[in-house]
Amino acid sequence: MVKKFKRHTISAALPYANGPVHIGHLAGVYVPSDIYVRYLRSKEEDVAFVCGSDEHGVAIELRARKEGKTPQEVVDFYHEQIKSSFEKFGISFDIYHRTSAKLHHETASEFFEKLYCENKFTETTSEQFYDQNEQQFLADRYIKGTCPTCSFPEAYGDQCENCGSTLSPSELKNPKSMLSGEAPILKETEHWYFPLDQYEPWLKKWILEDHKEWKSNVYGQCKSWIDNGLKPRPMTRDLSWGIPVPVEGGEGKVLYVWFDAPIGYISATKEWAKQEGKNWEDYWKSEDTRLLHFIGKDNIVFHCVIFPALLKAEGSFILPENVPANEFLNLENNKISTSRNWAVWLHEYLEEFPDKQDVLRYVLTANAPETKDNDFTWKDFQTRNNSELVAIFGNFVNRAVVLTHKYFEGKVPSRGDLQPIDMEVIASIASIPKKIEDALNQFKFREALSSMMELARAGNKYLADTEPWKLIKEDEGRVGTILNIALQISANLSIVCEPFLPFTAKKLAKVLNIESKKWAEAGNVDLLSSSHQLNQAELLFEKIDDKVIEVQVNKLLETKKMNDEENNASELEVLKDEIVFDDFVKMDLRVGEIKTAEAVEKSNKLLKFTVDIGLETRTILSGVSKFFTPEEMVGKKVVVMANLAPRKMMGTESQGMLLFAENSDGKLVNVNPGDEAENGSVVA
Ligand code: MF3
Ligand code: ZN
Repeated sequence: MVKKFKRHTISAALPYANGPVHIGHLAGVYVPSDIYVRYLRSKEEDVAFVCGSDEHGVAIELRARKEGKTPQEVVDFYHEQIKSSFEKFGISFDIYHRTSAKLHHETASEFFEKLYCENKFTETTSEQFYDQNEQQFLADRYIKGTCPTCSFPEAYGDQCENCGSTLSPSELKNPKSMLSGEAPILKETEHWYFPLDQYEPWLKKWILEDHKEWKSNVYGQCKSWIDNGLKPRPMTRDLSWGIPVPVEGGEGKVLYVWFDAPIGYISATKEWAKQEGKNWEDYWKSEDTRLLHFIGKDNIVFHCVIFPALLKAEGSFILPENVPANEFLNLENNKISTSRNWAVWLHEYLEEFPDKQDVLRYVLTANAPETKDNDFTWKDFQTRNNSELVAIFGNFVNRAVVLTHKYFEGKVPSRGDLQPIDMEVIASIASIPKKIEDALNQFKFREALSSMMELARAGNKYLADTEPWKLIKEDEGRVGTILNIALQISANLSIVCEPFLPFTAKKLAKVLNIESKKWAEAGNVDLLSSSHQLNQAELLFEKIDDKVIEVQVNKLLETKKMNDEENNASELEVLKDEIVFDDFVKMDLRVGEIKTAEAVEKSNKLLKFTVDIGLETRTILSGVSKFFTPEEMVGKKVVVMANLAPRKMMGTESQGMLLFAENSDGKLVNVNPGDEAENGSVVA
C-alpha cells in the first residue's frame, strides 16, 4: 500500500568540515537529494531539505593540530568553503547548518540526557591508551607505531596507511602517543554504551520485514550487520573537541561524533523552522511526515541501524521511511582519495569550468553509482557534454527558437492540422513526465534523467525528420505547426529538466520568455499560446574541446606521478631498464643547501623548501613531512634534480626535486653530499 504523506523531511549527510568536497560527494549524496527535492517542490509538496557541516570528531582535532590551528578555526574555514561550493552547484538546501552551533549542542545534549534519565544507556569500564605526559586518553588515530603486518613504522592505531590493514592500537609494536611521543599506558575509563543488542529483534522486524523495498545495496548491508549480531556501542569519548557529556561523571568527555551528527538533522530543522516561522516538530514528530536520509554507502549502518535505534529509544521521533544510499564513484579507475589528492574538487571545478555546473550535475547523474561503484572519466564527461547536452538538448532548443525568430519574428506560430508524425511526438510529451516520476519515486535517478533526455531526443528527431527549413517557401502554415510543437516541447523541457539541470531550466525559461512552471503543467502541449513573444536565443550548452580535457587529464597524471614516486622506491626489487649515457647526461643534478623549510597548508605530505643551488635559489616542494620536521632540514646539504620541468602542487610551483633514499622500512633519509660539497656543484 502506498502511504500518502503530508510533508517531507529530507536530509543529506553532513560532510566533515575538515576538507573540501569533491565529485564523489556530489554524485553520491548531494545531486540525487537535490534532484529529488526540486522535483517535490515542483509538485508543490511541503519539504524541509536539511544539511550542514559535521564539525566534531578526532579527524578534525588532528587536522587542527597538524595545521597549528584550533579545531574551531579549521571547521570555520571548511564550513564556509563547502557551503559556498554547494550553493554554487545549486544544491538547494533549505538550511545548511553546523554542529558547532549552540542550538545543536543543546539539542544533542537534551537527547543524550533524556536517554540517560530513562536508563537507556549502560555504563561500562574498559582499558584505553593514555598519555601520562599530556594527561589525556588517546583516540586510536592519536597512536602511532610499527605495523604488525608490513612493519611500516608510522602506522596509526586504527589503520596502516602503507599496507591498508585495519588495526586496533593494541596490535601496534612500539606504540607511541602522537601528542608527547612517549609510550602510552593502559588506563581504565568509563563510558556510556548504547545497548544496540537489545534492539536487535525490533531492527529485524523494522528493516528486514517491514522495509523490504529499500534499495538492495542498503537492505543487504543492514541484513549482514544484523545477522552478524549487534553489540553495545560507546556513545561517549575521552576527547576535548566535541559536545561535553551533560551528565554526572561526564567531565572531560564528549559525545561520540556519530551520536551527535545525525541529531544535526534535527537541530538544522529547528533553526530553519525558527527562521521560517514554522513548527519543527511537524517535520520530526508527525506520522504523516516522510523522513528520508540521502547518504553514501559508508554511512549505511549509522543511518539504518544505530540512529533509528536511538530515535526509537528516545521515543518521540518518526523513523526514516527510506535511506536511498549510493555506492562510490571512482575517478579514472581509481578510488577517490583525499590524502592522495585523487579527486576533482568542487571549488576547483567551479573555477576551471565557470557556468558549467549543470554539465557536471548531468554527467554525475548519468553515471550515478546507484547500485554499484561507478567511474568518472574526463573523456566521458566530454562525450556526454558534446554529444548529448550540446548535440541533442541544446541543438534542438536552439533550432526551434532561431527558426521562430527567422520566420515568425520570434512569435509562437499557431498550429494547423496535425499529421501522424506530429501526433507521435505529442504523445511523447504527454507520457514522459509520468516516466520520470515513476523513476524518481524509486530513486532511480539515471533512469529519470534518461527519460528527460528522451523528450529532448524526440524533439531533435522531430525537427530533423520534418525539416521545416526546407518547407518554408511552399508551406508556411505547416512550418508554423512544426515550430509550435517544437516550442511546446521546449517549454515542457524547461519543467522536466529543472530538478536535474536547474541553471539550464532557468535559461530556457528566459529564452522562451515564460515564468518557471510547476510539474503539474508538464505533459501539456499548450504551454505557449500563439503569438507569445520569445526572447533571443541563447546557447544552453557549448562544446568542450580536447585541449580542455587534456589539461584535466594531465593534472591527474601529475598527481599519479607524485604518488607513485612516494610509493615506488621501496618496491624496486629489480633494477630499472638499462639506459644509455645520453639519457644520463640529460639530468642536471646539483648540490644545494636548504635555506628555509615550512609545512604546506592543507597538505599532510608536503614541505616547502627554498634551496640555494649556487646559481640561484629555488622553491621546491617535497612530500616528506612524514619523515622530517621543517626545522631539522634547514641548513642541510641536499642533491637537487635541477632541470626537472617545474610543476604546480597545492597552488605553488615546485622548481626541481630533492633526492632521498628510501630504507627497507619505508623511511626516507637525505642523500647528503657532505659539507665539503659547494652549493651548485654538479653531481655526475
Ligand atoms: N560526516 C559524515 C561523513 O562524511 C557523515 C555524517 S552524516 C550524519 O561520512 F548523520 F552524521 F549527519
Ligand atoms: Zn602495514
